[in-house]
Amino acid sequence: MKSLAVLISNAGTGSNLQAIIDAIREKKISANLAVVISDSPDAHGLIHAKKNNVPTHIFDSKKEKIEELLTKKYPVDYIVLTGWKKIISNKTIAEFPNKILNIHPGLIPDTIDGIVKNPDGTNGLWNRGKFTDAAVQHFLDNHATYAGSTVHFLSNEFDFGPVLIRCFEKIKPNDTVKSLYERLKKKEHNIYVEALSKICD
Ligand code: GRF
Repeated sequence: MKSLAVLISNAGTGSNLQAIIDAIREKKISANLAVVISDSPDAHGLIHAKKNNVPTHIFDSKKEKIEELLTKKYPVDYIVLTGWKKIISNKTIAEFPNKILNIHPGLIPDTIDGIVKNPDGTNGLWNRGKFTDAAVQHFLDNHATYAGSTVHFLSNEFDFGPVLIRCFEKIKPNDTVKSLYERLKKKEHNIYVEALSKICD
């Protein structure tokens, strides 16, 4: 059985983590969640981890190196980022080729100069370099017809890498960041679980 580490921060709510925990319990993902690593002690996801008896680790960048943690202390098969804020160095990415997954609230193309098409044929927004609420705000500011998120492997290119799966969410006329993000997150949970269930199978 594959083992996973999920990396979170206080930028998110831990909802993707909870969806992964649920899917493991329901045997939709055949993996063991070895550890949840957070870069701060106040990440909401830590509450989900503790409630579900998943070991947690607060990462201290002054004293620890993430690649050492993930090879020596928690030698897992896949590293799953969800709302992780810290930059993962190219050296670490090279050490874990196609082993680090991320979910990004934007539509990452298959090629670096590509554009994802929305279901209505308009151009999807990549939201490269934008994080959580700022990314969702960007869909609204640009009057996009669809929001979307992408599960991908990390690569040396920022917010880019082999795409595993994407989701789209139609934007409604009165959407706010909160209303749109709430619906998008539900789809994020589904695609992250689907991607993990495939790669762990
Ligand atoms: C997700 O929206 C993901 O796309 C982004 O960070 C957010 C984390 O949300 N990278 P949550 O903590 O899983 O609710």
